[in-house]
Amino acid sequence: MKIIARTFAGLEEILEKEIISLGGTETIIRKRAVEFKGYLETLYKVNIWSRFALDVLTPIHKFQAKTTDQLYKGVLDINWSKYMSEDSTFAIKTIVYSSHFNHSQFAALKVKDAIVDQFREKTGVRPDVDTYKPDLAITLRISEHKCEILLNSSGAPLFKRGYRRATGAAPLNEVLAASLIEFSGWNYKTPFIDPMCGSGTIVLEAAMRAKNMAPGLVRKDYSFQKWKNYDSEMYETMIAEAKSKVRDTRVIIKGYDNDLEMVQAAKFNLKNLPGVSRNVTFDKQDFFTLEKPFKKAFIVMNPPYDKRIELLDTESFYNKIGTQLKHHFEDCDAFILSSNLDALKRIGLKPNKKTVLYNGPDESKFNHYQLYSGSKRYEPSMERKKFLQKNATSELDYQEEE
Ligand SMILES: C[S@@+](CC[C@H](N)C(=O)[O-])C[C@H]1O[C@@H](n2cnc3c(N)ncnc32)[C@H](O)[C@@H]1O
Repeated sequence: MKIIARTFAGLEEILEKEIISLGGTETIIRKRAVEFKGYLETLYKVNIWSRFALDVLTPIHKFQAKTTDQLYKGVLDINWSKYMSEDSTFAIKTIVYSSHFNHSQFAALKVKDAIVDQFREKTGVRPDVDTYKPDLAITLRISEHKCEILLNSSGAPLFKRGYRRATGAAPLNEVLAASLIEFSGWNYKTPFIDPMCGSGTIVLEAAMRAKNMAPGLVRKDYSFQKWKNYDSEMYETMIAEAKSKVRDTRVIIKGYDNDLEMVQAAKFNLKNLPGVSRNVTFDKQDFFTLEKPFKKAFIVMNPPYDKRIELLDTESFYNKIGTQLKHHFEDCDAFILSSNLDALKRIGLKPNKKTVLYNGPDESKFNHYQLYSGSKRYEPSMERKKFLQKNATSELDYQEEE
């Protein structure tokens, strides 16, 4: 079957890699999605295991329509009793880019009418719409006159893993947090720190990753479980297999925040993620007085960026982060995600790598800073050698050169 996994902009390639590792074939990268081929088994597996997909859809019918009557007829051609019964509930979401259909809600209404009419005709009873938690989540996609009907096998988006029940003012999406761990290239052995952890999303995603814990071991609720072809035995076997793949590890993962309420929220979320408490701690601590607890560590952080959390002086706050990293976190790898690109420049360290990501609608950068101790020097590029010669400093310079 053809399957489509949707994700955030910038995560398509890591999602494709993940899908291939889960058995998907013939992958094609689309805009904020990866299309692939697989079996029902692959569809269950991607739902249970994917850290980077937002949801997983499968098309059931394609047709052409330029008018609402043609749309109605096209939907009527589907034998809906294959997918639901008259006492099922359903909901329709739309993705419409078409000059023929200006009102996506009106198009959705036509799809609903066709489904309801088909059941009423056959059984005398009509299925109800439930937009909150429908048995069948249907997506109508129209690109000009090309219409496609898809079923959403996930239901609620997959970032709703089930562990994060307490959040702060600016929680990071779980899928984005998981992607930071992937982009950081963390080896799951070096101690891992999020010094501004908020409700603990990055820390908990890191713990799940280090333990090879499938997100589906916490979340147990998917739309495909309501499908008529639901194979509960196959699903239970996959869950048992996922349980057997959880790794025992001694890796240390620490989260800090200077707000006690956030630390309490993170601890509460940790309790909802059974099996990782041995590896994870959360403590109240101001980053600017934090002493490096390990010789080497991976630091991944998402500091406030003055949108949802107010800062008195964002740029000097970021400058202080850079100074703290430079003076107290030698030999560590630090990664900072921020949507405040001007403030990020004030970190004052030269990033080794910049990855562009999207935190909601905001363009963000995820920068990697390799922090060297004074005694150790990295091999500078020719350009940097010239810069160092020109400035003839004896100390390694961390300031950005542009
Ligand atoms: C954008 S939020 C992090 C959100 C987090 N990734 C999550 O998913 O919930 C930034 C956090 O930095 C914390 N923070 C701000 N200044 C801090 C400081 N000086 N030391 C430690 N934490 C700080 C805030 O309390 C806030 O929880």
